[in-house]
Amino acid sequence: MLISDISKHDGKSVTLAGWAYNKRSSGKIRFVLVRDGTGITQCVFSQKDVSPEVFDLADKITQESSLYVTGTVRKDERAPGGYELIATDLKLIQMADNYPISPKEHGIDFLMSNRHLWLRSRRQHAIILIRAQLIKAMRDFFDNQGFILVDTPILTPAAVEGTTTLFEVEYFGEKTYLTQSGQLYNEPDAAAFNKVYCFGPTFRAEKSKTRRHLTEFWMIEPEVAFADLDDIIILGEDFISYIIERVLTKCPEQFKVLERDISKLEKIKKPFPRITYAEAVEKLNQAGKAVKWGDDFGGDEETVLSNLYDKPLVIHRYPAECKAFYMKRDPNDDRLALGADILASEGYGEIVGGGQREDDLKTLEKRIKEHKLPKQAFEWYLDVRRYGTFPHSGFGLGVERTLAWICALPHVRETIPYPRMLEKVYP
Ligand code: 4AD
Ligand code: MG
Repeated sequence: MLISDISKHDGKSVTLAGWAYNKRSSGKIRFVLVRDGTGITQCVFSQKDVSPEVFDLADKITQESSLYVTGTVRKDERAPGGYELIATDLKLIQMADNYPISPKEHGIDFLMSNRHLWLRSRRQHAIILIRAQLIKAMRDFFDNQGFILVDTPILTPAAVEGTTTLFEVEYFGEKTYLTQSGQLYNEPDAAAFNKVYCFGPTFRAEKSKTRRHLTEFWMIEPEVAFADLDDIIILGEDFISYIIERVLTKCPEQFKVLERDISKLEKIKKPFPRITYAEAVEKLNQAGKAVKWGDDFGGDEETVLSNLYDKPLVIHRYPAECKAFYMKRDPNDDRLALGADILASEGYGEIVGGGQREDDLKTLEKRIKEHKLPKQAFEWYLDVRRYGTFPHSGFGLGVERTLAWICALPHVRETIPYPRMLEKVYP
C-alpha cells in the first residue's frame, strides 16, 4: 500500500514499505513515523500487540532505515495525514547508517552537498511536488490551446542571449554551445506548425552568485505565428493566471508544509498592470532608486518595481541596447525594442522575457553584424526571413524563478532537484 492511498484502506490490514522518518516512545508504546515518498504515516507499536523482537526493533530503528510494516489502518484526526497504522509486524530491510540530516538545523552548504538526501525532507519534498504540478500545468495550458510541442536541440552552433554566458562544447572538432534558449529553433518551427512551444533545460555560464541565477535551468517557450507584442503579452497573462490557479488547486497540502501565505497568490488574476520601460524608470526614481534612461534593470530595480503591485507586472518597450539582437524595433520609436518582461509579485522580479521578433531579412542581417555574431552560424535562422517571412512573437518563462515566487523561497537553489550554480555541480 502507498501512504497516499491510506484512506481507502481504513480498518484493513496492510503492509507498508518505506523509511523510518522519526520516532518517539511513551511507556509501552513506540511511535515510528514512516515515509514512503507519497506521504508520512505514524505506525504505532504497542507492546501488547507485537512480539518482543518487533518491539525492540521499533525501539532501535535508526532514521532512514528501510522497512516493511504490517498493521491495521485506523482513522485518527490527530495523526499526521488523518490515519495511523496499528502495527502487528515490522521487517527491516536495512538498518541505516548514522543519517547525516537529523531533524536539527543544518547550514545551507551542508544541506546542498547532501542534496540527494535532503530531497527526502518534508519541505524539499513539498517544493519538488509543486514543481511537478507546475510543469504539468504549463504543458496542459499549451496543449489545451492547440500548441504543438516541438523539441529544440541542446547542442547548438548559435548564441541566442549574448555571447558572455555561453558554455562551449567541443563537438567532433567543431565549436558548439549548450543552448541558452530554444527560441531560434521555435521560430522556424512556428512557420512549420503555427503555434509551438518547447520545454527543456537551458544553460547560461552565469558568473554571478545571486538568489535568482542558475547555470542550468528549465524554460518553457511558446512561439506564435502572426502574433504581435500585444498578443504575446496577453498570452503571458493567461498562462501565468492559469498555472497559479492550477497549483493552488492541486497542492494545498504542500503549501501548508511551506507555510506559504496563498492569499497573495489568489490575487493573481489577469489583467496584470502594464507599464513601459520609460514609466518604470520614472517609478524607480520616485521610489528613490536612481536610474537613467538606457540603464538595464538588475535584480534590485526589479524588486522595487515588483513590490509596487500585488500582481505580476508587465514592462514593455525597453531600450533596444538592453535586449537581444532578434528583437523587432518599435515602428514609432526606433530606440525601443518590441519586447516585454513580466516581473513576478512580492519582489521576485523577472520570470518571463519575450516579445516580437525582427522579421525583415536586411534589418536582421544588420543586427547580427552590430552584435558581432558570426553570420554563417545564423544562415538557417535567416532562412525564416527569406522564405515567407511573417510577424511572430514568443516568450520564455523560467520554471525555477517562477517556482521560487510561488513557494516564496529566498533562493532558486531549492526549486530544482539538483541545482547547478557557480562553483556548484556536486552532487
Ligand atoms: O529573458 P530571457 O533571457 O529570454 C530568453 O531566453 C528568450 N530567448 C525567451 C523567448 O523569447 N523564447 O530568459 C527567459 C527567462 C527569464 O525571464 C527567467 O525566468 C529565466 O528565463 N532565466 C533564468 N532562470 C534561472 N537562472 C538563470 N540564469 C536564468 N536566466 C534566465
Ligand atoms: Mg530577460
